[in-house]
Amino acid sequence: MAADNPPSRSARPVALVTGCSSGIGLRTVPALVDRGFHVVATMRDADRRTHPPELVGTHVSVLPLDIRSAESVRNCVDTVVRTHGRIDVLVNNAGIAPPNFVEEAPVQEWREVFETNVFGHAAMTSAVLPVMRRAGRGRVVMVSSLSGRVPTPLLGVYTASKFAVEGYAETLRLELRGSGIGVALVEPGAFRTGMWDAPMLTADFPASSPYAADFARLRAFYTDYVTHHLGDPDRVARGVARVAVARGGRLRHPVGADAWTQIAVRAVLPWAMYERVARALVGLGGRAEKSRRSSPEMTR
Ligand SMILES: NC(=O)c1ccc[n+]([C@@H]2O[C@H](COP(=O)([O-])OP(=O)(O)OC[C@H]3O[C@@H](n4cnc5c(N)ncnc54)[C@H](OP(=O)(O)O)[C@@H]3O)[C@@H](O)[C@H]2O)c1
Repeated sequence: MAADNPPSRSARPVALVTGCSSGIGLRTVPALVDRGFHVVATMRDADRRTHPPELVGTHVSVLPLDIRSAESVRNCVDTVVRTHGRIDVLVNNAGIAPPNFVEEAPVQEWREVFETNVFGHAAMTSAVLPVMRRAGRGRVVMVSSLSGRVPTPLLGVYTASKFAVEGYAETLRLELRGSGIGVALVEPGAFRTGMWDAPMLTADFPASSPYAADFARLRAFYTDYVTHHLGDPDRVARGVARVAVARGGRLRHPVGADAWTQIAVRAVLPWAMYERVARALVGLGGRAEKSRRSSPEMTR
């Protein structure tokens, strides 16, 4: 019976990548092929007639995957195992980052962000780990963010989800110790992808909001940043591919000068001082002093 036949095993190691329709995920595909992988590039809309050149080639196959759907996750992993007989690397890359002030973000927005950036990654990892465990080896690469290490005004919901990813990965790593399966976090700074095409930055913001003045400053800051300072996503893609094959045991891999600098600043400054620097960095000033005085528990 066909079901008794073990799946044929691909000669090339297999990397399964989520969120390959654009941005970092798309660019990671050729970077992993260059490292010797067969890449299973996944995306929600896999039935598009033409794929970009990154997704065409002998060592790439494209599969549908919505990481928010349990059925889609199961079908995708089953198909990869049936077709290739192995999954050596899982890159959890898919993500969303709708900008908003944390107070004003509707609960539905919180749910969508956490279902994608946290629960989706956890579901994929839990589906793939048994395959890696049977092989006695594997590597899970989580595309986190600089925002998984430092707070980012207007990206608070996203920041909270990436902080959760960092805690998830740290725990997973402790629990998998000795299994032969590695876990690593890639923490990019700001890179030029569709993530920055947020309609909120161009839409009208309600003047009645207590955040209207801050929004105007943040919009000016982000507009300038997006226009002049975003990095090349190929750099992150190469970083992900490097981490996928790294033999060393480092957990965290920041990418970009902004990531390295801001993580270091956050690590060395006491919170009260950091708060002033973090607000000034994005063009906000003023109220930090007042909020510090009224929130003594936030200082250390
Ligand atoms: N760009 C940056 O500056 C930056 C910085 C730090 C971290 N990151 C992280 O890098 C990762 C990739 O983002 P990006 O910058 O490359 O942005 P992007 O171009 O918007 O790509 C996001 C990808 O995630 C996919 N996705 C969203 N929801 C999904 C779902 N439910 N199931 C499957 N795929 C889904 C999108 O697919 P659809 O086309 O179907 O929507 C798209 O392929 C994210 O985790 C992001 O947090 C980015």
